[in-house]
Amino acid sequence: MTHVVITGTGLYTPEHAIDNAALVAAFNAWVDAENAQYADAIQRGEREPLAHSSSEFIEKASGIKSRYVLDASGILDPQRMRPKLPQRGNDEPSIQCEMATAAARQALAAAQVDATDIELVIVACSNLERAYPAVAVEVQQALGTSGYGFDMNVACSSATFAIETAANAIASGSVKRALVVNPEICSAHLNFRDRDSHFIFGDACTAVVLENSAVAVASEQFEVLGTRLVTQFSNAIRNNAGFLNRVTDSDPLALDKLFVQEGRRVFREVCPMVAKLITDHLASLELTGSDLKRMWLHQANRHMNDLIARKVLGYDPSETQAPIILDRYANTSSAGSVIAFHLHHDELVEGDIGVICSFGAGYSAGSVVIRRL
Ligand SMILES: CC(C)(COP(=O)(O)OP(=O)(O)OC[C@H]1O[C@@H](n2cnc3c(N)ncnc32)[C@H](O)[C@@H]1OP(=O)(O)O)[C@@H](O)C(=O)NCCC(=O)NCCS
Repeated sequence: MTHVVITGTGLYTPEHAIDNAALVAAFNAWVDAENAQYADAIQRGEREPLAHSSSEFIEKASGIKSRYVLDASGILDPQRMRPKLPQRGNDEPSIQCEMATAAARQALAAAQVDATDIELVIVACSNLERAYPAVAVEVQQALGTSGYGFDMNVACSSATFAIETAANAIASGSVKRALVVNPEICSAHLNFRDRDSHFIFGDACTAVVLENSAVAVASEQFEVLGTRLVTQFSNAIRNNAGFLNRVTDSDPLALDKLFVQEGRRVFREVCPMVAKLITDHLASLELTGSDLKRMWLHQANRHMNDLIARKVLGYDPSETQAPIILDRYANTSSAGSVIAFHLHHDELVEGDIGVICSFGAGYSAGSVVIRRL
């Protein structure tokens, strides 16, 4: 029987960081300008004044203190409030390809694998910067990997869904080694003028090398004991940007072409779904929550993670058992649970079991149970 192992991970973190205070200052400056511009209408009761955002609210409601972004200046300019990224020509590397190769090179080095020995590249993320050619094929060329590559999008669950796809390709014998990369430019789909969500996201890219254990040589290896995925349709997290926008004559700049969510509803509906997914998945592997040394959960909201971990483990997890990285990174969509794994796996010893778990739009959730070899 073929055993699949995770042998290396990598993380690209953008240089720019924005803390809550800076983000809120830009937002509030825009609010003040809008309220001044419409002062008469507000005075006449024809228009509601916009309310300020607050750092205290953001940290208390979500646990987020700061986020990394590809461009801070455009986001923090109250006249613009979106990143400013120069358009690239067809003969230049795409932004996502650059992010992906930076993270991938770290993962390949950790796995002690040459790029040429990778036979499958999956670029899996919430937003792709173009329709085609696939970013994965560009990454394949940039790194010099062999075989094939393709893109996939399952929103915040893209990484775990891609890990399952890669593990299956290895288990079936199609390939011996695969690379999964998650270049997330969440700052480009975020409405920085929406008080309810302007603080939620950050940018990052993660990479994971998976191999057939028979060819793996890395000093640190995690066997994939099993993967389980679930989806359930919901409009509570939605983004209507798409290639039909042009032909349906809908406004490509309208706010429904950005991330929109009903945060409370997401919280209420997703937590039980994820806790059940992990618990059922563990049971199918004849394991329970008490067998888990670590839970590397999707990083959207600290309270969600605490609640899910409590439901699975039966007690409040320590910071070590369920690491939080969203305080520094915010929600980096599919990259989040892999960042938690990348930064918090060194202390695990042989035999220790953990779960990488993502959840998000769709709804979609994925569980990857692994054991340190
Ligand atoms: C988004 C989220 C942090 C909001 O937290 P919440 O506790 O649900 O907050 P609510 O939206 O109910 O707002 C509570 C109050 O704070 C106010 N508020 C909202 N945003 C605010 C801000 N930026 N600053 C200050 N106050 C704010 C609201 O107006 C509301 O005021 P009210 O009680 O007077 O009506 C939370 O719902 C969440 O994280 N949900 C899950 C999201 C998720 O995981 N999405 C997946 C994306 S992949």
